[in-house]
Amino acid sequence: MPGLFITFEGGDGSGKSTQAELLSSWLADAGHVVVRSREPGGTELGVELREIVLHRRGHMAPRAEALIYAADRAHNIATKVRPAVERGEIVIQDRYLDSSVAYQGAGRVLDPTEVRDISLWAAEGFMPDLTILLDLDESIGRERLDESRTRYDRLESEKSDFHARVRAGYLALAEADPARFLVLPATDTVESIAAAIQSRVAILLR
Ligand code: TMP
Repeated sequence: MPGLFITFEGGDGSGKSTQAELLSSWLADAGHVVVRSREPGGTELGVELREIVLHRRGHMAPRAEALIYAADRAHNIATKVRPAVERGEIVIQDRYLDSSVAYQGAGRVLDPTEVRDISLWAAEGFMPDLTILLDLDESIGRERLDESRTRYDRLESEKSDFHARVRAGYLALAEADPARFLVLPATDTVESIAAAIQSRVAILLR
């Protein structure tokens, strides 16, 4: 039986990692082999690329930024995600190509179709079976980050209009592909979000 590739998307502070962890434990408890990954930074090479793209000081041209995310994606999919799915395992990943379309496309105002095409080339067209979008007003995301951080990375430091564009970019992606996306309000309780995710994933496992 082929495995599954499930991705979590949403703005900074939307609770993706918490929900990805809860879903992973739920699946592992049911006896599935679960692999966790993230972009950027799901592989050894990715950890180095993450450091560059998030913490390098000074200006980075938007297209350079987009290509570093795409390089991280290419390596993560080729060496980690696709082999695991082909072995029948379930990969749960924080962020994927929708992040590039939302952040580099809508946020940095690059052409969203071009950004998507670069990612598809990088990942050899590999698409998630399900993408969970935790939708959050950017001002609430900011408040949540302020409570948990003393230092922000390059993307988190962007102004609120950037994050508002990212949110709108995500919602447009979800609207265009309702079969792949499950959109949930990130302001619901952790437990109710987890329950909604589990019911959707249970359908995929049937
Ligand atoms: P995170 O792993 O803590 O969510 O941080 C990753 C940051 O990188 C986040 O601000 C979103 C951003 N990002 C992009 O701009 N484009 C991408 O393709 C990905 C995967 C992440």
